[in-house]
Amino acid sequence: MRKRFIAGNWKSYKSSADANAWFDTFTTLYQEKNISTEYVTAVLLMPFTLLSLAFERIKNAKLPLSLGSQDVSPFVEGAYTGEINAGQITEFATWTLVGHSERRRDFSESDELLLNKVERAKEKGLKVIYCVQDETVAAPSGVDVIAYEPPWAISAVSGGVAQDQEKANDMCRKIVKKYPGVPVIYGGSTTPDNVLSFVEKDSIFGVLPGGASLVAEKFFSMITQLATK
Ligand code: PGA
Repeated sequence: MRKRFIAGNWKSYKSSADANAWFDTFTTLYQEKNISTEYVTAVLLMPFTLLSLAFERIKNAKLPLSLGSQDVSPFVEGAYTGEINAGQITEFATWTLVGHSERRRDFSESDELLLNKVERAKEKGLKVIYCVQDETVAAPSGVDVIAYEPPWAISAVSGGVAQDQEKANDMCRKIVKKYPGVPVIYGGSTTPDNVLSFVEKDSIFGVLPGGASLVAEKFFSMITQLATK
């Protein structure tokens, strides 16, 4: 059995009350179903404001979830107003996401800036999920997981229409060839209904759900399916 990977990206959603309700539901499901997560790594990529709350909830209920941030400062600790640096993130999280298409599009993040983010993250021991939008986008060396996420297939853009699994797999295969040994996952309108149809392809190691991860039942279902396939 291949070990699978899922990273839920909450984007800029949820208050503390929303997050607590999500953890209430997820915790109940986990305690009822008692799934073995030996074969799946599940990461939650949280807004910075919710990292501390999520850290406590995961620790208290011993949930099979790792935490990550959705961004990291390209600078070390210092006079950089508004930035959250890698060292601060490591208080709560072990992962960070870098290079999401929404950050490239809405914040004009360049490859050079993204490289600095990866370097700062690695210096502090954060594991990096690096997003690429096709095989022409280069991933810096040292990243731990590459997420192929075609921007047009993201649910907020496509209305929930994912890329065709064969085409996604073809692209992931090209990326796998370029970066041997680095797991490649697919992101773009993945849900409990289609997750297995992606990961059963030879070059897709896991998924990066955004919208579906906001619903505890859906994220739990995706983890459960990956854990048992
Ligand atoms: P989505 O997000 O699952 O809502 O399409 C995926 C992504 O952000 O890559």
